[in-house]
Amino acid sequence: MSYYKIENLEQYFKHYNKSVREPRKFWGKIAEENFTWYQLWDKVVDFNMGEAEVKWFTEAKVNITKNCIDRHLNKRGDKTAIIFEPNNPDEEALHISYNELHQRVSKMANVLREQGIKKGDRVCIYLPMIPELAVSILACARIGAIHSVVFAGFSASAIASRIIDSECKMVITSDGGYRGNKTIDLKGIVDEALVNCPSVENVLVVKRTNTDINMKPGRDQWLQPLFDEASDNNVAEIMDAEDPLFILYTSGSTGKPKGMVHTTAGYMVYTAYTFKNVFNYEENDIFWCTADIGWITGHSYILYGPLLNGATTVIFEGVPSYPDFSRFWETIEKHKITQFYTAPTAIRALAKESLDYVQKYPLKSLKVIGSVGEPINEEAWHWYNDHVGGKRCPVVDTWWQTETGGIMISPIAFVTPTKPTYASLPLPGIQPVLMDEKRNEIEGNQVTGSLCIKFPWPGIARTIWGDHQRYKDTYFSAFPGKYFTGDGALRDEVGYYRITGRVDDVVIVSGHNLGTAPIEDAINEHPAVAESAIVGFPHDIKGNALYGFVILKETGEYRDRENLTKEINQQISDHIGPIAKLDKIQFVSGLPKTRSGKIMRRILRKIAEGDFSNFGDTSTLLNPEIVDEIKNERK
Ligand code: WT7
Repeated sequence: MSYYKIENLEQYFKHYNKSVREPRKFWGKIAEENFTWYQLWDKVVDFNMGEAEVKWFTEAKVNITKNCIDRHLNKRGDKTAIIFEPNNPDEEALHISYNELHQRVSKMANVLREQGIKKGDRVCIYLPMIPELAVSILACARIGAIHSVVFAGFSASAIASRIIDSECKMVITSDGGYRGNKTIDLKGIVDEALVNCPSVENVLVVKRTNTDINMKPGRDQWLQPLFDEASDNNVAEIMDAEDPLFILYTSGSTGKPKGMVHTTAGYMVYTAYTFKNVFNYEENDIFWCTADIGWITGHSYILYGPLLNGATTVIFEGVPSYPDFSRFWETIEKHKITQFYTAPTAIRALAKESLDYVQKYPLKSLKVIGSVGEPINEEAWHWYNDHVGGKRCPVVDTWWQTETGGIMISPIAFVTPTKPTYASLPLPGIQPVLMDEKRNEIEGNQVTGSLCIKFPWPGIARTIWGDHQRYKDTYFSAFPGKYFTGDGALRDEVGYYRITGRVDDVVIVSGHNLGTAPIEDAINEHPAVAESAIVGFPHDIKGNALYGFVILKETGEYRDRENLTKEINQQISDHIGPIAKLDKIQFVSGLPKTRSGKIMRRILRKIAEGDFSNFGDTSTLLNPEIVDEIKNERK
């Protein structure tokens, strides 16, 4: 019997139980049967959660690119590995076969070696969503260099701090990048960053926008001539299972960003397995994840997960609003996408626009649609299900984190019955527990608590680059012996999980524990409301009171704000209870969001408190200008 593919609910429970009772047998069998190894492991897993030490497949030898590319060449050499859909839909899409990908990655790997990059060196990649981004990442993995991708929307100081933290020897960037009707001067930003980065010896520059840029002699080189001259014969480095594969920075609630370290074999097994099952991947599917490769979602489900399964994956350079709001739907139709994976923030933004944009396209090729990044509210879930999935496609609401490497709690398409706003059941191998304030495990169902995971899984990040103590403190000390996710969750009467949001988003009003997400859900159901964010602010009597920031739909109705305020509060009363009513409502034109689409509540909290003194680091905000507007119109 194979454990790689779950066919039905009964089998899910069988596999799940096996994975809990005999995790070594379960993962060992999956790893042995579905990947190519130079040498097998001596232990499947070796861990000490109290010390934050986890190792998978110890002593095994492997190269992830052999598994992503080489082993498919016999059977799928001419199959498309990557579809590149450019920012401008009039520019032709590119289809890169597995053979071509093999050739490109081999050449790029040789370029890196010729430029002095060796196993264990760190390479910073700051590229737009173009094929060279995928090729550079895979070339690093091929020669055992550790890639550190920095999303090509981050500022010079954000890049610099990441390069300095992991002492990158090289930066791979491009002259510029396209984003809708804008061109972004990436090389200029890199130049500014590198003023403070003595570790960087070489910069390779991809030509994309033909922008005029500065090339610093002795440091900067155009990639193309080096690439053209490089041999396409490359021998992959033999990597240890626990050798670092990449570093990816994620913002902490305080302090500098954390360089999460993912290692080779466990990450490989986990991303491949979760991709295959959650999305019900089958051989001729065409998978599109709209995230940027600069985030973990892109690492795991644009590149590694799909390629490990020999899939066709889409790299989309553009934005959902360019040339107009039908871009996603037009692209699904154009490439006959079978699985579409996006974020609630994108869904809400598109749901705000006219239905004509989506209804123009039949979207019959779709079979599974997914959501990731934040809790998906009821209204957005239904809009997505009705208008994109045509009520035929399971909506997989996938809960996971940069730290977890892959999807943790999620419906498995066509296996797990879905329930709106519920991430549903843990995947095999994942043992979630809910904890109370006294650090006790909460048994039974219909309970809420802090979400922890009590047994290691192959995809878990192993450490924070250069700071194992911080890793231990952040994830393994709040609940000793367990991995603490930072999220709160509810377990319903049948054991389904609903992620209620970051634990720090809970507001205690008059002694009542109120998650902000369900209140926002209630508000968002009002026909005039597009989106909302709730924070707590100090209140003499209640301890805390609620402050709501509300974005209205552009319908022109509901001009009477006083009435609207009453209606919104009635709505909350109806859904949650009068205790959750808002003390203040401010109508705003936007909310401060990070580039990954998360509302920066810390800023809203400060504004609600009337403390404008220090908003902290706002460098990761997509729309910093909104902060002043909200501040000036504060109630
Ligand atoms: C945090 C992790 C994992 C990929 C993208 C984000 C929130 C993520 C869901 C979901 C509710 C979700 C959690 C988590 N989150 N997916 N389906 N439902 N919340 O990665 O930037 O590391 O953020 O995103 O709060 O802890 P990330």
